[in-house]
Order: sequence, then structure tokens, then C-alpha cells
Amino acid sequence: MSERAAALIFAFALGLTASRVAPDAQSSSILPPDVVKLLQALMVAASGVTRALEIGGALGYSAIWIGYGLRQTGGRLTTIEYDPGRAKLLVDHIRRAGLSDIVTVVPGDAFKEIPRLAGGFDFVFLDAWKRDYKRFFDLVFPRLVARGLFLAHNVVNKQAEMRDFLGAIQNNPAMMTTVVSPSAEGVSVTLKLR
Ligand SMILES: C[S@@+](CC[C@H](N)C(=O)[O-])C[C@H]1O[C@@H](n2cnc3c(N)ncnc32)[C@H](O)[C@@H]1O
Repeated sequence: MSERAAALIFAFALGLTASRVAPDAQSSSILPPDVVKLLQALMVAASGVTRALEIGGALGYSAIWIGYGLRQTGGRLTTIEYDPGRAKLLVDHIRRAGLSDIVTVVPGDAFKEIPRLAGGFDFVFLDAWKRDYKRFFDLVFPRLVARGLFLAHNVVNKQAEMRDFLGAIQNNPAMMTTVVSPSAEGVSVTLKLR
């Protein structure tokens, strides 16, 4: 990802945070969850991401949005899902969305599967069990390229379950973090600086 693209994406995220802090008394500044998903997809599309990772694929809703973004960039997504039944449905939903050439579903425990994946990542979306966030961050962040993005879901409504993770991504000179919270759930956006 180029520095300019990363900076633009980050400024975009910061702008959304500002609109949340000072909403100008307009209810339209509060985005619904599906727009947040779209935002994630736009981030991918705008950034030239080529290697994306999702931890916690479930039934494929977010993977499909990210996959549509990656179709624009020529990138690929690996999404990992622990539950075998969900992983099976996830494969089917990706196929029906016409994204099998872009999204690879890896069934299994991401703690075991991530070390088996080769290379680095330039975009990570973490949406697994919330108490595991810090451990996933420690596992994946060293493999994020400089100027790569690490996004995590539910950092507002489930912050009590991930205080160690939130402490790790905030006030750290190696990264810059903002929280986009147009809905009650909140997504942290962390830019790796070097
Ligand atoms: C909130 S759901 C994900 C929703 C999905 N990202 C979306 O927006 O459509 C969380 C998923 O994470 C999966 N999960 C939890 N721990 C995991 C792990 N260690 N490895 C892989 N998947 C995991 C769960 O099975 C569950 O399906």
C-alpha cells in the first residue's frame, strides 16, 4: 500500500470519528451497520490491498463485502472460521457471491491456521471471540506490512471484554489508531507506521 493511500484512508476514518463526536445535530451522521461494512470494503478498494486476512468469517457477510472491494484491487482474502458448520455455509455463500477466485475459506482455529499461512498481510479484519483479541493482535501484527491496516470489530460495545487489546493499540508510537463508531459496535482502525 502506498503511503498516500494509507494516509487518505486514515484521514477518512478520522473524519468519521469527528462527525460522531460533533454530529451537528443531524441524525444522518450516525451510519447504520451495513454502511460500516461498506466502509470496510471501500477501505480495501481504495488502498490497493493485495493480501487480506479475516479472523472469524462466520457466514460470510463481511468477507463478501471485503471480497467485492478486493475485486477492484486484484487482492485476495483468506477468511478463517472455527465452526465447521458455519465454515461450510461460508464456502457456499462465497461461491454464490461469485467470489471463489478471490476469497479462500480456511476452516479451523485461527490460532493454529495463521502460522500455516505464508507471507505477510496488508489488511486484517479481526471479528472472532472478543477475549482473544489481544492474543490475535500479538500473533498477527508482526506480520502486517508497514502502512498495513489492522481493523477490529466491536471495540465499543464489547470493550469490557478486550481492555488488554485496546491498551495495546492505543498510545503506541509504532502505530496510529482511531475508532470509527457510527453504530454502537465500533471498529478500531490501526495503521502500522513502520
Ligand atoms: C461475530 S462472528 C463473525 C462475523 C463475520 N465477521 C461477519 O461480519 O459476517 C465471530 C465468528 O468468529 C468465529 N471464531 C471465534 N474464534 C475463532 C477462532 N479462534 N478461529 C476461527 N474462528 C473463530 C466464530 O465461530 C464466529 O463464527
